[in-house]
Amino acid sequence: MLKPKPTQGDTTWFIHDRFGMFIHWGLYALPSRHEWVQSQEQIPPEDYYRYFERFNPTKYDPRRWAKAAREAGMKYVVLTSKHHEGFCLWDSAYTDYKVTNTPYGQDLIAPFVEAFRAEGLRIGFYYSLLDWHHPDFLIDVFHPLRNHPDVARLNEGRDMKRYAEYMRNQVRELITQFDPDILWCDFSYPGRDYHGLPGKGRDDWESEELYALIRELKPHIILNNRMDLPVAADIYTPEQVQPLEWVKVDGEPVVWEACQTFSGSWGYFRDELSWKDEGQLIRMLINTVARGGNLLMNVGPTSHGTFDQRALDALAVYRDWMALHSESIYGCTQSEYQEPQDCRLTQNGDKLYIHVYAWPFKHLMVPELAGKVSYARFLHDGSEVALKPTEWSASQLQIGDHVLVLELPMKQPDVVVPVIELALT
Ligand code: GLC
Repeated sequence: MLKPKPTQGDTTWFIHDRFGMFIHWGLYALPSRHEWVQSQEQIPPEDYYRYFERFNPTKYDPRRWAKAAREAGMKYVVLTSKHHEGFCLWDSAYTDYKVTNTPYGQDLIAPFVEAFRAEGLRIGFYYSLLDWHHPDFLIDVFHPLRNHPDVARLNEGRDMKRYAEYMRNQVRELITQFDPDILWCDFSYPGRDYHGLPGKGRDDWESEELYALIRELKPHIILNNRMDLPVAADIYTPEQVQPLEWVKVDGEPVVWEACQTFSGSWGYFRDELSWKDEGQLIRMLINTVARGGNLLMNVGPTSHGTFDQRALDALAVYRDWMALHSESIYGCTQSEYQEPQDCRLTQNGDKLYIHVYAWPFKHLMVPELAGKVSYARFLHDGSEVALKPTEWSASQLQIGDHVLVLELPMKQPDVVVPVIELALT
């Protein structure tokens, strides 16, 4: 079996658990048209303030979120403690731009952590390196004020060194107050100059100091790869793409986690129509694990603090499928066996799982495995799948005698993606 490059962060549980929930929540839930709305519409801070003044998620009950995540089969959660807009969901001592100063008036993160831990999930925080609110953050290509006629003057006196220290202070707070298992810093863009405004990377974030601080506070925390400091990366994070192969860095397979959305944006977006269907949702999870990766699937809660019905429906797709098939996900990884036509394989020791994407007529041909399987069954109902005798298969189907033939029911079982478990001898 392929093994990823070892990590300093403790990724043992992570690789086993495979499936997590991403949550993007902030002031952008009010406009409900993308978490980048402030940048996309170039909304100056004084106008964006109208969302801060109205942030009041009175229906927020993280126990409901945690229950939905656990029922969907998710084993960990990563919450945006601060996104690019700069608004903080906890009672940080280093800013006034935080939830406790909104009409809601209470910290959101402590109850969140408690609720998810109570459901048995591990906790991680997303922390934005960008900050469109902080007065020391130099205006750049993504900043809402990038096209301001006086941008040079607005940038005078801004001091990224002070901002880098602010980030270290906040990260220290998050780690010491909530003891997260994952820290997900986002993101770097050193080459992105815009009309003389430079992009930002490790020198601006002071990534080396930030990294040293994080490791000092919690040596085995899992860190992602977006602070422009290769040494810091435990996990690699392809975003809104489905890698066809195990993700490699310098030719070596690494621990990786694809992050994906239900509908395109991360923050709640009322008018978005591109919600993925149930087949896509389930296949994304399988495709990821079949290439040795994790899936971090995102929900963008509303400004009330609720998951909207479309998100609940999508989570129910995972819930229903995982209730019957989680054995082919947890503890599983890419198999070295060749995939049958229209199938994906995952493997956990001597158990091989065939995920059938297009239901074939009567027989499923599995290369290499003739004589190597003692028993086959469906995961959804535990019913046996018959193995055809090798000689019969070879003569009837004109295939090599290394090919194992499984006899299937005529109709696809009534699950989004059926899974056949093979016990290898
Ligand atoms: C991007 C976006 C951001 C989102 C993140 C998730 O970097 O800036 O909005 O939070 O990806 O991976």
